[in-house]
Amino acid sequence: VVSPKIAPSMLSSDFANLAAEANRMIDLGANWLHMDIMDGHFVPNLTIGAPVIESLRKHTNAYLDCHLMVTNPMDYVEHMAKAGASGFTFHVEVAKENWQQLVQKIKSAGMRPAVALKPGTPVELVYPLVEGTTPVEMVLVMTVEPGFGGQKFMPNMMDKVRALRHKYPTLDIQVDGGLGPSTIDTAAAAGANCIVAGSSVFGAPEPGDVISLLRTSVEK
Ligand code: DX5
Ligand code: ZN
Repeated sequence: VVSPKIAPSMLSSDFANLAAEANRMIDLGANWLHMDIMDGHFVPNLTIGAPVIESLRKHTNAYLDCHLMVTNPMDYVEHMAKAGASGFTFHVEVAKENWQQLVQKIKSAGMRPAVALKPGTPVELVYPLVEGTTPVEMVLVMTVEPGFGGQKFMPNMMDKVRALRHKYPTLDIQVDGGLGPSTIDTAAAAGANCIVAGSSVFGAPEPGDVISLLRTSVEK
């Protein structure tokens, strides 16, 4: 089994208390903090950008797993790196011809490159990015339409996860959207090891119990 990485989505946290919420998640056993960057164009919602990452970085050493739901990811690389982002996940739908240059730029800036795909996007589109000379180090399979927390998990996305796991036994495969106690076993059995969970963690009376449960499911 590829090692589990449990990443609470800070989109479901209290943004007005972001530093405290972030450190609380790390104290409860989270591996990464998932940061949803939206531009109001690639998705119909607007969240945070590099200035907030920069502020948060002053309060935590945690791995900041940044998911960029933006139309022009190239324009964000330098700002995100300077702000202290750890991982930079761009969407394959907006990175068709220049992806090699983009991945190279992310790596040179000291971040870990990853690629995401929306529910309607065929998984084959990311194969060249995993197999390239400067490959991405994680694939994010969206299990909801990106843009909002609290949506329903799409189990039919597991075909993509299985296909990726079959082809790439050691690849980090992330799932994002609708993950929680009732859906984690499906995702873990398909081969996902990086788990993003927003509303199921922040909405729980004991978020630490949910983080542990997610990890146990990936480990078994
Ligand atoms: C949606 C975001 C997710 C979102 C997940 O566009 O990419 O990270 O916060 O939230 P839940 O876990 O509530 O579906
Ligand atoms: Zn996300």
